[in-house]
Amino acid sequence: MFTAIKNLFRFSKKAKNKNIQVSNDLSLLISDVHSHLVPGVDDGSPDMDTSIALIRRLQNLGFKKLVTTPHIMVDLYPNTPEILKPRFEELKVEVAKRLPPIELFLGAEYFLDLDLLDLLSKPDELLTFPCTDPLNGSKLEMILFEFAFHLPPNYDILAEIIFKMQTSGLTPVLAHCARYPYFHKDRSELKKLHEKGVILTINAATLCGSYGDLAKETALYAIENGWVRMICSDTHAPHHIAAVKELESSPVLADMIESGTLLNPGIGLN
Ligand SMILES: [Fe+2]
Repeated sequence: MFTAIKNLFRFSKKAKNKNIQVSNDLSLLISDVHSHLVPGVDDGSPDMDTSIALIRRLQNLGFKKLVTTPHIMVDLYPNTPEILKPRFEELKVEVAKRLPPIELFLGAEYFLDLDLLDLLSKPDELLTFPCTDPLNGSKLEMILFEFAFHLPPNYDILAEIIFKMQTSGLTPVLAHCARYPYFHKDRSELKKLHEKGVILTINAATLCGSYGDLAKETALYAIENGWVRMICSDTHAPHHIAAVKELESSPVLADMIESGTLLNPGIGLN
């Protein structure tokens, strides 16, 4: 236990020494846990051929397992498990025909609003994914959710949603925690979320600077504080996968891999 806690706070030498050259083996991540690969259901892959091409590229980086997480957002993407599951099964059939073996899981990226509160009243119908925490072996069932970008969440509703998730046996996982502009100046909310047991994730593209300096600085701050336990591609299109590839030379990722704190390798192990 002591080692585990120590590991969480050991992000250090490589990340701070910008001159050090690293060559990360991305296959050590094993899993990507955030992507939009089900064709034609959101702003991700528009068709089956694109999905196959994107999955091939992710495979080429070394990923063995992919959790694909279509948006569920009442106004914009009114997806339901009934809509998504058959499309996901079609995807699995095509992948099995056209690509080397890879494990696929269907999750979702739930938008935080009052509708999510309703959905949480039937936890068995939620799209979640399993993970075994490499630090302590605990079995987790995870649910990915996101906030609006333009406006901070209603913190009362957020607290209720986190409570409902956790009392339903689910581990809340916040998508791309460093991309929300309102957290760039006030990072204390990220700390509070971490302390409440929310798993914070960072997109590869954020670490590469694709969303600007403030997002990148916030990501690095959260990582250095030991709040981030997953690196995700959030693949909608090839440039998100190119960002993951860039992390081959990232000292920050080298430190995270070495620390053993990343949850990516534990996906699908329950
Ligand atoms: Fe996403």
